[in-house]
Amino acid sequence: MNLPTLLILLLAFSSLTHLNAEELLQADIDNGQRIYRNCSICHQPEGWGSKDGLFPQIAGQHLSVIIKQLEDIRSHKRNNKIMDRFSAEAELQGAQDILDVASYITNLPMTQAGGKGGGKQLKHGDEIYRLHCLVCHGRFAEGDAEKKIPLLAGQHFLYLKQQFEAIRTGKRGNGDPEMIRRTRDISMESTEAVLDYISRLPPPKEKIAPSGWKNQDQTDYTKDLTPGLQF
Ligand code: HEC
Ligand code: HEC
Repeated sequence: MNLPTLLILLLAFSSLTHLNAEELLQADIDNGQRIYRNCSICHQPEGWGSKDGLFPQIAGQHLSVIIKQLEDIRSHKRNNKIMDRFSAEAELQGAQDILDVASYITNLPMTQAGGKGGGKQLKHGDEIYRLHCLVCHGRFAEGDAEKKIPLLAGQHFLYLKQQFEAIRTGKRGNGDPEMIRRTRDISMESTEAVLDYISRLPPPKEKIAPSGWKNQDQTDYTKDLTPGLQF
C-alpha cells in the first residue's frame, strides 16, 4: 500500500466518529423511544424538564447539538455527575443508540411554558442579546444545527442561568471558547436581563406542542423502570 492510499484510508476512518453518526447511520426511532424511557425519569416523558432549572427542556433541540452534548458528557469533556450513568456505554451502547435516542428527542414537540425570569429589564435584555448573542444563537435564539449551536428559545430561565455561568467560568468544560471570550465581562445585571429575555422567546412555531399534549409513547413512565436508581 503506498503512502497516499494509506492516508486516504486513515482519513476515511478518522471521519467515522460518533459525531458523524447522523450522516452514516439510519435512526431507529422505536429504539430511541425505548431508550428514552430511562431519560424521561428526569427530563419528563415530554422532554420538557423542570422549571427549577435542574433538568433542561431537551425536546426539539437540534439533533447535532443533542449528539454533541451526549458525546461530551460521556467523554467527561462536559462535567455532569447526574448524567454520567445515562450517557455511559451501559445505557447507550454505541453511535446507533445515541443517534436513535437523539432523533427521538429532537422530534418531541416543545413547551413554551418554561420557567421565566422576573421580567423587569426585557428591553435591556434585548439590547444585550443583539450585541453579544445574536451573531451565534440567531435572531430568535433558534441556534444553528450545522454549527452545533444550541436552540435557547423556550429553555427554562434557571437552567440558562446555570449553564451560562458554567460556560463562561469554564466549569462546564466544553464551552465554546469564542462564547467565553465574548461573554466573560457581561455584568450580573445584564446577564439576568438577557437570559430573562431569551427564556421568553417562543420556540420555533413548528416545534411547539398543541395545548394539553401528553407524550402517549411514554405512558408506562415510572421510576421503577431503573431499580436502584438514586439521584
Ligand atoms: C438522573 C437524571 C437524568 C437522567 C435519567 C437523564 N438526564 Fe440528561 N440531564 C440531566 C441533568 C441534571 C442535565 C443538566 C446537566 C448540567 O447541569 O450540566 C442533563 C442534560 C442533558 C443534555 C444536555 C442538554 C443541554 O442542552 O444542555 C442532554 C442532551 C441530555 N441530558 C440527554 C439525556 C438522555 C438522552 C438521557 C437518557 C439516555 C438522559 N439525559 C437521562 C439529568 C438526567
Ligand atoms: C461565538 C458564538 C457564541 C456567542 C457569541 C454566544 N454563544 Fe452561547 N453557545 C455557543 C455554542 C457553540 C454553545 C454550545 C457549547 C457547547 O457545545 O458546549 C453555546 C451554548 C450556550 C448555552 C448553553 C445552552 C445549553 O442548552 O446547554 C447558553 C445558555 C448560551 N450559550 C447563552 C449565550 C448567551 C446568553 C450569549 C450572549 C450573551 C451567548 N450564548 C453568546 C456559541 C455562542
